[in-house]
Amino acid sequence: MAKRTQSATLQSLKALFDGDPKRLDRLSMDVTGIHFDWSKTHLDQDAIANFTERLAECGFEAARAKMFAGAVVNTSEDRPATHVFERGSGTGVEVDVAAARRQRMRALVDAVEAGAFGDITGILHIGIGGSLLGPHLLVDALGRGRGSFTARFVGNIDGAAFDDAIRPLDPATTLIVAVSKTFTTAETLANLSSALDWLRGAGVADPYGKVVAITASPDAAVAAGIDETRILSFGEGVGGRYSLWSAVGFSAALALGWTAMDDLLDGAAQMDKHFLTAAAATSAPVLAAFADRLYVEQCGCQTCALFAYDDRLALLMPYLQQLEMESNGKSVTAAGKPVSAPTAPVTWGGVGTDAQHAMFQLLHQGTVLVPVEFVAVRESDDEQAAERHSLLLLNAFAQGATLMSGSANDDPARAEPGNRPSTTVLLDRLDPRSLGALLAFYEHRTFTNALLCGINPFDQFGVELGKKVARNLAAGELGDLDPSTLALIARAGL
Ligand code: F6P
Repeated sequence: MAKRTQSATLQSLKALFDGDPKRLDRLSMDVTGIHFDWSKTHLDQDAIANFTERLAECGFEAARAKMFAGAVVNTSEDRPATHVFERGSGTGVEVDVAAARRQRMRALVDAVEAGAFGDITGILHIGIGGSLLGPHLLVDALGRGRGSFTARFVGNIDGAAFDDAIRPLDPATTLIVAVSKTFTTAETLANLSSALDWLRGAGVADPYGKVVAITASPDAAVAAGIDETRILSFGEGVGGRYSLWSAVGFSAALALGWTAMDDLLDGAAQMDKHFLTAAAATSAPVLAAFADRLYVEQCGCQTCALFAYDDRLALLMPYLQQLEMESNGKSVTAAGKPVSAPTAPVTWGGVGTDAQHAMFQLLHQGTVLVPVEFVAVRESDDEQAAERHSLLLLNAFAQGATLMSGSANDDPARAEPGNRPSTTVLLDRLDPRSLGALLAFYEHRTFTNALLCGINPFDQFGVELGKKVARNLAAGELGDLDPSTLALIARAGL
């Protein structure tokens, strides 16, 4: 039986390198144009063997096979998790169902391009959480300065966010894309209502005629006034944070072009193949999850940080915050028992090199240990001198090197302890295919973490209570609120 907790005292990273000349080879790999390097983490052969044994005990192969066969893996909601089918992976009827939906989505993209909605120059994408973060990331990462549409994204209930989103758009030539799995989300319905008012106010004759709805609840979209012909649906088994592969990616497909969408799905499917076939010690998502578990369980790390050393990936961290924290921020197992070890750490981070001048002091000298992930891209896509991109990459590598090496100094204030772990993920280039593979890598890593924790990554009941209380308060039902909250409501004059 594999030990749940291995040695609490980890060898130093330097000793690990000194003790194993093959360490770099063992702990780095290339998958679909992405280079992964875990050699600067404390994973070693014993840890990998122990985790591999534990993974088998957790029924990893059967659970993975179930997901790719469309069987129920989201047990609390009695549903499969069908996002892999949206990119053509998996087996069974779901593959064809997803392909048929994709054809409809493509037909609507073609129709918009062919002028079926009149002259369209802008897209206002309305949605929140998983109904926004994925397409927003895609457009920001791949569409800068390209494409024939100006795409803007709004999620928040805050009217200031709406004002800001519509500022560069012309209401006469904007397509509204309202995305909501449930089509009951308060923020999305409020933003849709504001968008319709905006079009009406500008004299657009048929505002509803400019709305496309994307949802797993078409009846609710029809009830909200959207014509069936302009509704694209996706399956209940597609969780919000796993949904960018489905019709939820419509705005991105429109803004980036259908070929980009196809390539994105293809890249993700390549990563699916890798996840399905590689042995644990050579599987990128699995090794990443082993390192995650090592730091959470053996070092008590409560956070992990991701720094994109590429401005195009600035939205990767917020995307992963939802993927990892909403999936695995749980305290009970899939069987409803309290978990025996901590689950997901807090995901935080930012963009390098900006973050170096704000947060890295703590990473190098603070009292908390934070495993760091650097994500960078070998090829640049900017119009500045090539040496700037070289400097960007060298900064990322310098941070990883110095977190590990540290630096002795007679003055304790200037000494850096080192032995601080980091992972590097280096894409050859940032294109739809590599981004698809990268995001699928993070999904499978999240799945593997969940399995090792014994939790269900596909539900998110923890978000419901706050929504319900906000709804009640908006309806004037204060219930038995605490004195502090009552005072705040009074103070705000509500
Ligand atoms: O509040 C959390 C959540 O339910 C997410 O899981 C989801 O992605 C988001 O809200 C939006 O939900 P919907 O797509 O139903 O509007």
